[in-house]
Amino acid sequence: MYEQSPPIDAQLVAGDQLIPVDTRLTSRYSLMVRFLNGNGFKDGAEFTDLLIRNQGKEIGLGPCRLICEPNIDGYAGRIVFLKEVYDLKRLVEENKVVRLQSSFLNVPLVLAHKKRVKREFKNYTSDLTYDLNVYKSLFDKLDEEYAEEAQSIRDSIQMAIINTEGVRFHRFLDDRLAELERMVKGFNRAEHESHGFYFRRQLWEIILTAPFMRRTNLKPRGYAGDSEMMSMIYENGYRGKSTFAKLMHKHPVGHPGAQAVRNRRKVIREMIRGVGDQRNPSGADPLKILSVACGPACEVQDIVQTAQDPGKYDFTLLDQDRNALQEAANGIDRVQRRLDGQVKVKYLNESVRTMLKTPNLPGKWGRFDFVYSMGLFDYLTPPVAAGVLGKLLKLLRPGGELVIGNFHVSNVSRYYMEYWLDWVLYYRTESDLKELLRGAPGDDVSVFFDETGVQMFLHVKRHESH
Ligand SMILES: C[S@@+](CC[C@H](N)C(=O)[O-])C[C@H]1O[C@@H](n2cnc3c(N)ncnc32)[C@H](O)[C@@H]1O
Repeated sequence: MYEQSPPIDAQLVAGDQLIPVDTRLTSRYSLMVRFLNGNGFKDGAEFTDLLIRNQGKEIGLGPCRLICEPNIDGYAGRIVFLKEVYDLKRLVEENKVVRLQSSFLNVPLVLAHKKRVKREFKNYTSDLTYDLNVYKSLFDKLDEEYAEEAQSIRDSIQMAIINTEGVRFHRFLDDRLAELERMVKGFNRAEHESHGFYFRRQLWEIILTAPFMRRTNLKPRGYAGDSEMMSMIYENGYRGKSTFAKLMHKHPVGHPGAQAVRNRRKVIREMIRGVGDQRNPSGADPLKILSVACGPACEVQDIVQTAQDPGKYDFTLLDQDRNALQEAANGIDRVQRRLDGQVKVKYLNESVRTMLKTPNLPGKWGRFDFVYSMGLFDYLTPPVAAGVLGKLLKLLRPGGELVIGNFHVSNVSRYYMEYWLDWVLYYRTESDLKELLRGAPGDDVSVFFDETGVQMFLHVKRHESH
């Protein structure tokens, strides 16, 4: 990427001397330099400043040093900076001055943050950090004991540890979570935020060991609940580099909140297969199905099981994240290869926010027999959720069905998700969910739950006469 970057006009400053140079990006934080007018400098030569001209502006990047490298194409070596370290890529491409150390500007604020945290909570977090580090060192020590064994032996020893000490460790985590819930359940939103922030700073190293916790916290695609996180939940297995990491990964993906996600996949499969059998028993007229915020759409793989199934369904999968659609497509591709048949599926890379602004959606996408959305409404405020719901209702054919999922306020994994995973949802009660319909006349409306009681479903059946 950097070899392609164009030369940048610049001048090095040494005392009162200005030395014209050509520079080029060689990495995000260093520049290649070519001295003009026959100038030459030794390895380690220091300069008081580097002035670069970028998009018409002159910027001084401060004291720097030359690191000589084999002379290729007239370039003497690299310039590295001695005080301020700038993100040169963003400087050149976006004309933005971003310092590597800029996050330190907030240090006083972040340090002061702890003053807002209750003493009891600090004690809890400190004890928990101590205890987890004790467990970690014990599990790590065991890992070292059998590190020289063959892989298959290591795997079975690790499973034996997971099934004994690992089970006791998970019970310890359950107890600490119950304590956390007792302490924070009366907090208001601002208190949850400040205590959650403090909690994660304290437990950061532990959080980073577990692949699932790491991902929900770092949010590499910018949001919690991306298709990779969904896959980890569906897998519900042990991932991580050590026994401790594996146990820390498994605990949240085995919790009721994650179980509810697995359950809803089954619920949707059963409903769609049921509607298919009822409305389209011969399979002559494929059932039109729309999944909104489909993610990896794993349930489609569960629905299309036999060689007859591809002909029975016609899927439209919508998601704002292209990666999620790609993962959905990969899964469906595997089904097609297994069944040696073509699944009818259309992918829409769109946001529901765009959908809100589109006047005639049925004209654009047609109407559907079954519309569902899981794991989306938990992120939408009431006005947006009501707007989206109104749009989705218009997409139903007469007799068509709509199912919307939303986590219930009583989610027993709520504080686990908020404090450990930095995964905050818009929780609703049954009536909150129904109110989003704003009356929607002429339809049968019900609310039901999965087995955990965490996942709530709003079910609307459009009357045949509509
Ligand atoms: C928690 S996942 C649920 C995925 C899937 N429905 C499932 O249950 O496995 C949430 C999905 O919503 C998508 N999403 C979030 N906001 C969206 C929006 N405004 N429009 C469309 N998709 C959205 C995300 O890209 C992500 O794939």
